[in-house]
Amino acid sequence: MNKRYKGGFNMPVRVIVGAQWGDEGKGKIVDYFAKTADMVVRFQGGDNAGHTVVNSAGTFKLHIVPCGVFKPDCVCFCGTGMVINPDEFILEIAQLESQSVRTQNVLISSKAIILMPYHVEFDRSSERGAGAIGSTKRGIGFAYADKARRLALRFEDLSDLNYCSDRLDVILAFVNADCKKYGVKPVSKLSLMDKLKEWAVKLGPRIVEPVTYINEKINEDKNIIFEGQLGVMKDIDLGIYPYVTSSNPVAAYAAVSSGFSCRKITNILGVMKAFSSAVGKGPFITEMSDDEAVKLRGTGENIDDEFGARTGRARRIGWLDLMVVKYAALVNGFNEIALCKLDKLDGLKEIKVCIGYKLNGKPINYMPSARMQYLAEPVYTTLPGWLSDTTNIKNIIDLPANAKKYIELIEQITGVPVKYVGVGPGRDNIAL
Ligand code: GTP
Repeated sequence: MNKRYKGGFNMPVRVIVGAQWGDEGKGKIVDYFAKTADMVVRFQGGDNAGHTVVNSAGTFKLHIVPCGVFKPDCVCFCGTGMVINPDEFILEIAQLESQSVRTQNVLISSKAIILMPYHVEFDRSSERGAGAIGSTKRGIGFAYADKARRLALRFEDLSDLNYCSDRLDVILAFVNADCKKYGVKPVSKLSLMDKLKEWAVKLGPRIVEPVTYINEKINEDKNIIFEGQLGVMKDIDLGIYPYVTSSNPVAAYAAVSSGFSCRKITNILGVMKAFSSAVGKGPFITEMSDDEAVKLRGTGENIDDEFGARTGRARRIGWLDLMVVKYAALVNGFNEIALCKLDKLDGLKEIKVCIGYKLNGKPINYMPSARMQYLAEPVYTTLPGWLSDTTNIKNIIDLPANAKKYIELIEQITGVPVKYVGVGPGRDNIAL
């Protein structure tokens, strides 16, 4: 029998990542693929994510737990590249259980970083005035900073509280100096130790050594999804620095974070939205005026309106910027694209799409730095809208002709086939 994937494997090792600034609809797409998955691994970020899933079990906003949690036998692995606030994790698990979602298969990498209460305090206190970059104030950047300066605890440390106590002596000397700087109350080692004891009891059974576990699943030919958060423009190295997140939401990081060979990845799926949206500060070349944006943003009354799932902030809205998606395809190496929210364009007579940038009046063929993006001009083409309801369409071939032209333009500029088209927020609102 012919094996479907390189190396004699039948099952996909699929990485699903955002092709823009985040909020592309990855939650829905991961939930869709998770129907047949054995394991879903979140590979970066923390509870700043807001993956929205609408399925037969209800409507959920997942912040830490991977979107495979709705399939009872699917392992949901919170991976090494994450920074996890244990209290938020415990809360999310309790919330899911209260909605009758079983969570016994939700595991935590022993190498993931523990996001401490003081990381949240520092974030809140620093995200004021001129230095603010639009953080979600969840302590994510501070936890990653402590990981980098080797002043963090990992979940594996919870198995030895004496070791934690010794480490805290070193860590808190630095942290309490930072408390002075940020005007935050000094951290009491005693109360932190109480927290660590509580987390050790509550989370201990879920903590797993990740490298052996994940490689075993790959070698057992399991159907695995690596789930990213945010999108390429928020990548700390490749995005609009400094208006970025503190990790790498690009596909290659799935392998780095989980400790497996990137040669084992069989599919890289980019999730994009049919227009642009962004939260926080930073350049946004195709940003619309507020009057134009209102039509696409909605009022916040509907689940799919453009308001942050985590923060409730109104998202900034813009025309589709294909330079961004092309860049995402280059950086990630997409095999295929899932295009979400096509239905949101159903009522537009004409649709502008950015197909190039100019700097100082001259076309450029690279993604400019954030500083230069403020000076870049978009080159638009205008396509006719389709002015009809797409929400019940199940096959791409049945989409209105002008919607298909829109999709063809995406394929032509990015060089990647659009295989899945989201036409509504629900799990089944996908045209194939
Ligand atoms: P981050 O990881 O935080 O970047 O989020 P995300 O990419 O998972 O996006 P999110 O789940 O926040 O999705 C954005 C919103 O779009 C949610 O409310 C979804 O229910 C909704 N949505 C997803 N796909 C579609 C679609 O095809 N059409 C419509 N109308 N809504 C959709």
